[in-house]
Amino acid sequence: MSHDELAQACKEVLKKNDKGSFTVPASPLYPHQWLWDSCFIAIGLRHIDIKRAQVEIKSLLRGQWSNGMVPNMVLSTDETSQAGSFWRSSVSPFSPDNVATSGITQPPVIAEAVVRIGEKLDKQERRKWYQDVFHALLAYHQWLYAERDPHQEGLVLQVHPWETGLDNTPPWMFELHQHQMPTWIRIVAALKLDTIIGFFRRDSTLSMPGERLSTLDGLAFYSIQRRLRRKRYDIQSILSHSHLSIEDVTFNAIFIRNNHHLKTIAKGIGKKLPEDLLKRMRQTEGAFEKLWDTYTNQYYSRNFVTHKMIKVPSIGALMPLYGGHLAKERAKDLVKMLTDNKQFWLKYPVPSVPVNSEWFHEHRYWQGPTWINTNWLIIAGLERHGFIEEANHIKEQTIKLVSKNGLSEYFSPKDGAPVGAENFAWTAALVLDMLC
Ligand code: GLC
Repeated sequence: MSHDELAQACKEVLKKNDKGSFTVPASPLYPHQWLWDSCFIAIGLRHIDIKRAQVEIKSLLRGQWSNGMVPNMVLSTDETSQAGSFWRSSVSPFSPDNVATSGITQPPVIAEAVVRIGEKLDKQERRKWYQDVFHALLAYHQWLYAERDPHQEGLVLQVHPWETGLDNTPPWMFELHQHQMPTWIRIVAALKLDTIIGFFRRDSTLSMPGERLSTLDGLAFYSIQRRLRRKRYDIQSILSHSHLSIEDVTFNAIFIRNNHHLKTIAKGIGKKLPEDLLKRMRQTEGAFEKLWDTYTNQYYSRNFVTHKMIKVPSIGALMPLYGGHLAKERAKDLVKMLTDNKQFWLKYPVPSVPVNSEWFHEHRYWQGPTWINTNWLIIAGLERHGFIEEANHIKEQTIKLVSKNGLSEYFSPKDGAPVGAENFAWTAALVLDMLC
């Protein structure tokens, strides 16, 4: 397939998933609007229709809560009856009145999308665009500090694996299996009821079992979500009793980069960010080093309560490259790990778990497959740190991968076999961005 044909195929997938003011990740598996999906989608859409790209972000911000949180899902009106009663966002006094949403967030990549759209506008339009979204973004970043860094230590915490966007990523699953499986889930496991429950799951009826979460892990996710809802998504009540809470390395790296983008946006409209926010942003960059382990020479996520690092390898170890604030030596260590063919340098990089890990499974969701959004983030990070050759290699292999195997949700990093949903929107959007 030529690059022109591939770009055309990307545009068709984006059109297919376009619901007018927002884009679904893929139908029918994902019928709602997701936070980081929409940001990646807007980054692709800016090459086709800049106004539509702006609408994508604005429609995401419709879901913003009055305390500043941007939820990871804005629920579609067609489907709200089911998902709406699952999330019941109205239990929180901060949720919006006329929009049903989830009650948790996702990696804060909105400022990135805003700046990338801004690059395509002339100076006057850019100023107007930045003015349109600045207050929402400021409120969101302030909320992250106020609610998710309660001890003012610099790193922000997450309360559900879904908040990382990397759902069943091994470090979270390790913690979950250690501490969080409630008794009723242990009983389900002992009685093997999970096989029966498995019959009713939408994601495994629409894709092969073994390519997504196990039913037991799915139940554990559900149980955490129910607890959050019971606590009305109020962070103080959530944290008042032991609750799975992790300072996730991917989330925090993305936050650092997007703090920079927020500064750019403020500057673009002649505003200065509040001094206390700037102070917290500087603190985050320093605190990030607490996630570095000198024994294994890599970054890990950390348990918020015990401050213990979760030393289970995953793609999160490479995300600090995207954060973009690393000293040369640190960046070199990460690139060494990335280009090691016993870890991440497979035929179609970058696998979501290194191939030498006991957790690696080439087809299982965030436990091995290659995903295009994490590739895009790593490429951006490599370019910023001056590793152009490595960035180009990942870009070329990604383009080869989708030319051969279609615009799927995720892929085997070994032979490129497509897995998960077909016609996946962020795959199309980010490949289009790589081609432009
Ligand atoms: C899955 C992915 C998450 C994504 C969502 C919608 O939950 O893990 O990253 O945002 O699907 O595509």
